[in-house]
Amino acid sequence: MEFASLKAIHIVTVAVSYILFFVRGIWMLSDSLLLHQRWVRIVPHVNDTLLLAAGVWMTAIIQQYPGTHGWLTAKLAGLVLYILLGLVALRIGRAKRVRAAAWIAAQIVFGYIVAVALSHHPLPYCRAC
Ligand code: HEM
Repeated sequence: MEFASLKAIHIVTVAVSYILFFVRGIWMLSDSLLLHQRWVRIVPHVNDTLLLAAGVWMTAIIQQYPGTHGWLTAKLAGLVLYILLGLVALRIGRAKRVRAAAWIAAQIVFGYIVAVALSHHPLPYCRAC
């Protein structure tokens, strides 16, 4: 598949991932039963798998990889953190306080990953770097 198509898939799935995460967080905070719909347990995983697959495929095309290129190492580490915080926010967090904090932290991490993607640098806001 062409790079441009993969990048388009990657960016669309990034947007869908954020929207679904945001909405599930609102449902979690308001104790909504909508959070427990069947599709809500399936669609985010399918979308995030596509997001990751398109990202990994693009790394093969541009021949830059996590572990050798700092910005991709940072993106992958950020993705792992985003997934873990998402787990705490939407599944394993006991207190609502903890879930809410994890939900907010996950969105900050998500913003960091986008900034890394746009700047191709692990420290996107560092003027001295
Ligand atoms: C939540 C996780 C992720 C988010 C939010 C994200 C976000 C983005 C965004 C917004 C772009 C477009 C940047 C631009 O317009 O130039 C992008 C490009 C890209 N991403 Fe991701 N990404 C994520 C995960 C990953 C992962 C895990 C990988 C690979 C291991 C990856 C590899 C790439 C590559 C190779 C590009 C193309 C860069 C280029 O144009 O040269 N991404 N990503």
